[in-house]
Amino acid sequence: MQMTPREIVKHLDKYIVGQKEAKKSVAIALRNRWRRQQAPEELREEIMPNNIILIGPTGVGKTELARRLAKLDNAPFIKVEASKFTEVGYVGRDVESIIRDLVDQAVNIVRSENIGKYQKKAYELAIESLLDILLPKPATLDNEENTGNGSQKPDEKWQRTREKLRNQLLDGKMDERLVEIDVPSEQSPLMQIISPVGIEEMGLNIQDILGPMMPQKMKKRKMKIEEALIYLQQDETNKLIDMEEVIREAIHRVEETGIVFLDEIDKIAGEENGAGLDVSREGVQRDLLPVIEGTNVITKYGMVKSDHVLFIASGAFHVSKPSDLIPELQGRFPIRVELHSLSVEDFERILTEPKNALIKQYTALISTEGVKVTFTKGAIKEIARIAFDVNLQAENIGARRLHTVMSLLLEDYLYELPDMEMKSIRIDQKVVLNKLKEVIQNEDLSQYIL
Ligand SMILES: Nc1ncnc2c1ncn2[C@@H]1O[C@H](COP(=O)(O)OP(=O)(O)OP(=O)(O)O)[C@@H](O)[C@H]1O
Ligand SMILES: [Mg+2]
Repeated sequence: MQMTPREIVKHLDKYIVGQKEAKKSVAIALRNRWRRQQAPEELREEIMPNNIILIGPTGVGKTELARRLAKLDNAPFIKVEASKFTEVGYVGRDVESIIRDLVDQAVNIVRSENIGKYQKKAYELAIESLLDILLPKPATLDNEENTGNGSQKPDEKWQRTREKLRNQLLDGKMDERLVEIDVPSEQSPLMQIISPVGIEEMGLNIQDILGPMMPQKMKKRKMKIEEALIYLQQDETNKLIDMEEVIREAIHRVEETGIVFLDEIDKIAGEENGAGLDVSREGVQRDLLPVIEGTNVITKYGMVKSDHVLFIASGAFHVSKPSDLIPELQGRFPIRVELHSLSVEDFERILTEPKNALIKQYTALISTEGVKVTFTKGAIKEIARIAFDVNLQAENIGARRLHTVMSLLLEDYLYELPDMEMKSIRIDQKVVLNKLKEVIQNEDLSQYIL
């Protein structure tokens, strides 16, 4: 089940152009985590986690790489900016919230998987409870004497009516009719007031703790049957889902497969210049150590171990260097890999090859208007060249430049498309040059528009 590094790289190749070394490193890291989990218990603690620092300029695929890696492993994944955190005791987010967020995310994922699984069953149950509301069982039928003594007539009649009603419901014939349903009333304002500050910061919610102890108040609400069905289906789904099981599975996934992408790590690797900020930067680095190395984090769902969570850090490291991080933190990121600036040829490939390539995206978008758009080789080359040149002239934002160039190129088409007669558009080099000429030639203009 666990993919080999080679298979992982092959998969990443479908989305990311170039960056061979980086792909190889993340693939090894993912596999090594699995290897570490398989190792004998006494040894496991000794083996260093394979956390990685991706170093490279903006827009060359760092985040994309981590995101795809997580998707591939179906792993809980979150991206956080290292510069957002502050030392414990200061205003701001503490680093343990990373793990809490990861668990929240995993719970949502597992929960929605369960919703999918129970959808059909919940719908059937919703229909039944709606029938119970629309056509309550006559009290006399519950009386045993009546049913037991061969006088089954009223029961059969009630059953038949119920079936008729069921068919009408299923056919949507009653969608517009109104029905009265019990819904939970709003959370009482008192609950909001007594929630102490601090608990919230720990990711704990007073409602979650006291909720089960407080009786849920209900009130009647009128709604259309259509709406009531949706509501009841949700209600039945919630009853069917075993939240304890969901939480257990979510925590398991986080502990075994979670991936944290720690962006802008270079921003907390301060230069030593005596400024007050540096103390806090170093503090954040120190706070990160236990979480990265492996600790128990208290979340509202219980204790979560971060031992096997894979950390992928990333940064441009223009000003600072990885060696500016405190030594202990450097030690927890034993793998460094550089991502390269992208060439014109890379741009051409990025435009066309990835599964989600921009050209494919726009072709699909435009075809929804019944128009077929084609880009010639010359057009692709020209778009790549323009993006590359603008990156040189203005700021180098990597492959993100392709987005801005493409949207400017196609703006008029996207605007006029629904009113146009033609069924196909051919975009060649000339069209590209014509559309973009003005902006490219005027440097000031391109600074703003592209
Ligand atoms: N090598 C690549 N192959 C395919 N697409 C790429 C590549 N590099 C970047 N892109 C595309 O460019 C966009 C930005 O890439 P990404 O978010 O990975 O940048 P980044 O390296 O994380 O930059 P930053 O340092 O600013 O966070 C994404 O839409 C991504 O699809
Ligand atoms: Mg990024």
